[in-house]
Amino acid sequence: MKFFIDTAEIDEIRPLVETGLVDGVTTNPSLILKSGRDIFEVTKEICDLVDGPVSAEVAATDYETMVKEAGALYDIADNVCLKVPLTPDGLKTCKFFADQGRMVNVTLCFSATQALLAAKAGAAFISPFVGRLDDIAHDGMGLIQDIRTIYDNYDFKTEILVASTRHNMHILHSALIGADVATMPPKVIHQLFKHPLTESGLAAFVKDWEKTGQSITD
Ligand code: E4P
Repeated sequence: MKFFIDTAEIDEIRPLVETGLVDGVTTNPSLILKSGRDIFEVTKEICDLVDGPVSAEVAATDYETMVKEAGALYDIADNVCLKVPLTPDGLKTCKFFADQGRMVNVTLCFSATQALLAAKAGAAFISPFVGRLDDIAHDGMGLIQDIRTIYDNYDFKTEILVASTRHNMHILHSALIGADVATMPPKVIHQLFKHPLTESGLAAFVKDWEKTGQSITD
C-alpha cells in the first residue's frame, strides 16, 4: 500500500520524505488555506521534494474553468496529479485529461456508485473520504470494501486512495481490504510508528547496553 501525506506544510513533508516512506502528497483548498502559501509556489516546492504524485485541486466548479485551471496546475511539474470534485463537470474534466494520459484524482467520493463513475471516467485515483463518513455515523471502511469489490469485478485500474483518514485503524483496515493508497495527515503517519512495548523495550535495551560498557563503533 502506498503512503501519501495529506498536507501542504513543507516542514511536515520534508522529514517524512527523509524516512523513505512517502509515495506522494495530497492537497486541497482547505490545506492550501491552512498553509498560508501561494498554491503555485507551495505545490512546486512539494513536487521538488517528492518523487510521486502530488495532487493539486481545481477551485472552479464548471468544466471550462476547470480545464483552464488544470492547464496551469499541470504546468507546475511533471508529477502534478490534477484533483477534481466528483461532479458531472469534474468527471468530464477527468475524462478529458485521462484520455490524454494525464493523472487525475477524483475527490469528495462518498458512495461506491460515485467511485464506479470515476473509474469509467478514467481516473488514476478515487478519493473516498472515510473519516467524514464515520463522522456522520456511516461506515467509511465499508465503502472502501465495496469499491475494492467493484473495481476487482471489472478490473478497473483506478487506484483506491483512502482519504480523510484520522487514526491507525483506518490505515490497518485499508491495508487489510487491499486499498492501493492511504493519504494521511502527518500526525497519523507518526502514530503508526508508536507502540508502548516498542518504547519500553527500547528503553530497557539502551539501559542494559550502557551497563555492558561496550561500543559497536569504536
Ligand atoms: C485528501 O485528498 C482529502 O482532501 C483529505 O483527506 C480530506 O480530509 P479531511 O476530511 O480530514 O478534511
